[in-house]
Amino acid sequence: MERTFVMIKPDGVKRQLIGPIITRFEQKGLLLTAIQLMTIEQSLAEQHYGELQSKPFFSELVHYLTSGPVCAMVWEGQHAVANARALIGKTNPVEAAPGTIRGDYALDIAGNIVHGSDSTENAQREINLFFHADRVDPMLFHM
Ligand code: CMP
Repeated sequence: MERTFVMIKPDGVKRQLIGPIITRFEQKGLLLTAIQLMTIEQSLAEQHYGELQSKPFFSELVHYLTSGPVCAMVWEGQHAVANARALIGKTNPVEAAPGTIRGDYALDIAGNIVHGSDSTENAQREINLFFHADRVDPMLFHM
């Protein structure tokens, strides 16, 4: 069984999209095993997006992520990483297909509503950054 990290970014929280986004993941069949509404500090945002440090948009990205509360989550299920990314859609909402979260709710890459890990390795790294091990429910009830 695989786990992935999903984060509803400040614009998604502000627009009251937590419910509709969670519904999509639940309807797909993924299982929510940890969730936390939190305002993240600059250092955590910088660590989370460490791979993008050299990008010209890095400081804008960190500012965006720390501009309000985010909803951090761990989702579990078969192919959780790939299935979550399919639900989320392409990084740039302009290219994201209708029916995906970004395709339906976002207009621009600088405000793309939600993040999903791009590999199982990054999922574990990101889960470790945002959650203490004892906050991720080990008692799972897959049907
Ligand atoms: P995310 O899936 O969270 O992973 C990296 C993030 O960087 C991405 O979503 C966008 O929010 C952001 N990003 C990627 N490319 C750009 C860009 N050209 N301009 C601004 N932000 C970007």
